[in-house]
Amino acid sequence: MSDNPYEKAYQREKLARNEAEHLLEDLSRKLYDKNEEINRLYEDLKRNQSIMVQHEKLASVGELASGIAHEINNPVGFCLTNINSLQDQLPILLEACAAGSPDWDAEKRADADYLREDLPILIRETIDGLISIQTIVRDLRYYSRNSNQDAFSGADLNQGIKSTLNVLRNKISAQYQIHLALGDLPLIHCNQGKLNQVFTNLILNGLQAMGASGNLYIDSYQDGDQVVIRISDDGPGIEDAIALEIFQPFYTTKKVGDGTGLGLSISRSIITELHAGQICLVKDGRGQGATFEIRIPIEQEDLGSA
Ligand SMILES: Nc1ncnc2c1ncn2[C@@H]1O[C@H](COP(=O)(O)OP(=O)(O)OP(=O)(O)O)[C@@H](O)[C@H]1O
Ligand SMILES: [Mg+2]
Repeated sequence: MSDNPYEKAYQREKLARNEAEHLLEDLSRKLYDKNEEINRLYEDLKRNQSIMVQHEKLASVGELASGIAHEINNPVGFCLTNINSLQDQLPILLEACAAGSPDWDAEKRADADYLREDLPILIRETIDGLISIQTIVRDLRYYSRNSNQDAFSGADLNQGIKSTLNVLRNKISAQYQIHLALGDLPLIHCNQGKLNQVFTNLILNGLQAMGASGNLYIDSYQDGDQVVIRISDDGPGIEDAIALEIFQPFYTTKKVGDGTGLGLSISRSIITELHAGQICLVKDGRGQGATFEIRIPIEQEDLGSA
């Protein structure tokens, strides 16, 4: 370095400037990284919030359905009791109609004859109607069992599948053939309501993928210390390239309003986090399209909420 004091001062100043520039560059990089991280956290927060809202919505639908089912159950119960005792008394009524009354004119006798024919049919049909309401109510209550709490209880998963199909019956037109192969399953200590939400999503996904008609296959069986449920359809299937993506929150190929893309992501969290199980796509399904397989350990611990 030269002895010139001006030159020295200049060099010192240059060094200091370089250092300051490096420091500034370093700080800007850190600031940029922090900013990126905040953006990422914000996106995560937004996603988690939507997932929670969807969870809540499903839980409230379950709660509502179970509340209504409970309300309907009692009046239907006493209607059935009443109509059954009316049916027991029917022979007396029919006899009275047949005997008639001396002051009846021809029109009244004709009405009484008609009533004698019609009454047993009316009562039979009313009993059948009330029994189907009872079945729907029972299915609704079973369907939404525990869905609003994280309570676990011993449940029959085959019954859960059947209840889910009954609850979805207005979505399953005659163009769809449902093939059930439900094997013997032990009772599972699980959150039945939440598992029914998983069945609902897989069944609806299958129906939506198939379009207006097709075959849906639902199998259940025990495999060692696990129960296995498979839901398979005749739709276009799912390419390997997107097999993992479909489980990501908000991944959907459906029109806005038709799907939120949360069904499979919520299903996965219910199966893996809440029941220590697995859910994945498999190749050897009974249908030509996609086959989802759920595996749940028979021995469950209370693993907390999903
Ligand atoms: N059985 C299936 N056959 C073909 N594609 C499927 C099937 N099931 C799911 N998919 C694909 O995976 C995507 C994600 O499914 P997911 O259930 O998570 O969301 P969604 O059905 O689109 O919307 P949501 O369930 O929230 O109403 C679907 O949009 C579809 O592209
Ligand atoms: Mg779905």
